[in-house]
Amino acid sequence: MEKTIKTKSVFFNGYFYPESKPLLPILDRGVCFGDGLYELIRCIGGKFLLFTRHINRMRKSADFLEIPFLYSDDELLETAQKLVKINEIKDGELYIEITRGNAPRYHEFPEKAKPNFFMVLNPLREMPDGCWIRGVKVITFPDIRWSYCHFKTINLLPNVLAKEMAKKGNAYEAFFMRGDEKGTYFTEGSSSSIFSVKNGVLRTPELDNILPGVTRDAVINIAKKLNIKVEERRVYLKEFKISDEVFLTSTVSEVMPVIQMDKKKISNGKPGFLTLRLQFHYKKFMQEHFQ
Ligand code: PDD
Repeated sequence: MEKTIKTKSVFFNGYFYPESKPLLPILDRGVCFGDGLYELIRCIGGKFLLFTRHINRMRKSADFLEIPFLYSDDELLETAQKLVKINEIKDGELYIEITRGNAPRYHEFPEKAKPNFFMVLNPLREMPDGCWIRGVKVITFPDIRWSYCHFKTINLLPNVLAKEMAKKGNAYEAFFMRGDEKGTYFTEGSSSSIFSVKNGVLRTPELDNILPGVTRDAVINIAKKLNIKVEERRVYLKEFKISDEVFLTSTVSEVMPVIQMDKKKISNGKPGFLTLRLQFHYKKFMQEHFQ
């Protein structure tokens, strides 16, 4: 029997199109300069996790970068819901991108460009078997990025290189490291936030030139509600090596135990108690925070 392959529909500047249709012109500032922002939002059962928080983060960055943000939260949520219906994808990842728009290729902001805005709903990516139960390996990688890492810009080449290095090392993620007068410290993963546990205290890098992760924030709040002490500060490599537990968080990874960093096992090489406790509570939180 012949199979019909359904083409995915995407939203672009106010209209829905088949994904295969070329939509971004080569003069798009995102294409030429990486002059744009993105968000990734989880869709579970056709609803969106912490939708407004993601959009707020994007809107705030767009304001700073003087990229006009033309849609209201309600319009965006309605559009996202339409993508669920049209594409019949219930569990997925909603990718949203805004760029400064089309203009002749001169570096300075163009006077008349109108932003390009698109949304694509993809099925949830495949994850390594049993990763949430068994935990994952990570590698370390120098943080070669710039000073505006709190913006979720589409300039992701350092992150791409770090993730590729992780893949080549048979690892799930790369943890970025920087240095100061006290030594080497961690910032964040190539697409995740970092946590460690020592003597029951949860530590995570402070919001100093890293992305304010939506999942990071949720996990910190959950931990505080569970009366777990949380420290937001620089976490140094030497502390990390002797931590009891390590985990990473992101929209896609949720709370993911880390059991090995480079060649060294974290503690006994098994997911830690507090990690699994937070993983459980975050799962519960997810069920309560859909829009
Ligand atoms: N990345 N840090 C970086 C550099 C990230 O790219 C991400 C997310 C995070 C975690 O943020 P959140 O909890 O809001 O998802 C931290 C997404 C998932 C991506 O690029 O695919």
